Amino acid sequence: MPSHLLGNSAATFWLPEQASTFAPSHDWLFYFIYWVSVIAFIGLMGTMTLFAIKYRRKSADQRTSPNEGNTMLELVWSAIPGLVFVFIFAVGFKTYIDMAAPPANAMEVRVVGYKWFWEMRYPNGTTLNNTLIVPVDTPVRLVMSSEATAPEDPAVLHSFFVPAFRTKRDVLPYRYTVMWFEATKVGEYDIFCAEYCGAGHSKMIGKVVVVPQDEFEEAMKPDGWDEETETLAEFGQRTFGDAGCTACHSTDGSKLVGPPLNGIYNHSVSLTSGESVTADENYIRESIMDPQAKIVAGYPPSMPTYAGRLTDQQIDGLIEFIKSLQ
Ligand code: CUA
Repeated sequence: MPSHLLGNSAATFWLPEQASTFAPSHDWLFYFIYWVSVIAFIGLMGTMTLFAIKYRRKSADQRTSPNEGNTMLELVWSAIPGLVFVFIFAVGFKTYIDMAAPPANAMEVRVVGYKWFWEMRYPNGTTLNNTLIVPVDTPVRLVMSSEATAPEDPAVLHSFFVPAFRTKRDVLPYRYTVMWFEATKVGEYDIFCAEYCGAGHSKMIGKVVVVPQDEFEEAMKPDGWDEETETLAEFGQRTFGDAGCTACHSTDGSKLVGPPLNGIYNHSVSLTSGESVTADENYIRESIMDPQAKIVAGYPPSMPTYAGRLTDQQIDGLIEFIKSLQ
């Protein structure tokens, strides 16, 4: 089969590369409508220009000849576009039905939209932020919803969009929406939030990482500290990236959604309550497990809890990493 029918074509001027089973029929219909529009535009504008020249008024006393209409011509110019529209509907409807009905054997991943990042929860307990790892040539069903990071900071509407897969679906609070895809090509593809959801909307960028089946199984193994190859602080740095902390916390002093984390260890931190605390191990641990307990002055109470999402070893690693940041 030619590659554009497998969903493996490269990007074109109008569309990103194809990387799912939906892409070929989606793109075929896009280009069908595109070329019909081009032909209709040239045909109409060309005829109009030609007639404007050919039948222009040639003398001051020339009058328009009477026109009774032409039933056959009117039937033809109604019926042909009508049939084209019905054809477009039929092809689009078929693709829509395919997209709406996930195969029964699809692998399931919970996708949660927060303000402002994506969390992917796998059935085995693995949790990834802004990264959706999936095996190639396998149907994947996403069960999606939007959750609040804190009771006083309610959940908002997002939209999960993977252009290379030609799939997009709204992600709502208090409700589950489902979408599915089957990736056809190993690689990394953008995830965008396609619904303006607030100040951090443009930061809700992630990656779908499509890997071979054996690499997927490897990636799903719980991540632990490998004492042979890295220090605890290095393990913490890795966890800092994997858990998505980098979306909201800088380590160079720049202000993101949350406070920067360099130079805070054993220093005094001012809180919104007016008090201040010393950022010791217990404070850092509490801020990971119960982020709303002590909010740093000047920042929104928008961090979700990581209780149950990080192992004790990962938390130890994060604390060690933060201690190493000067
Ligand atoms: Cu989430 Cu826009």
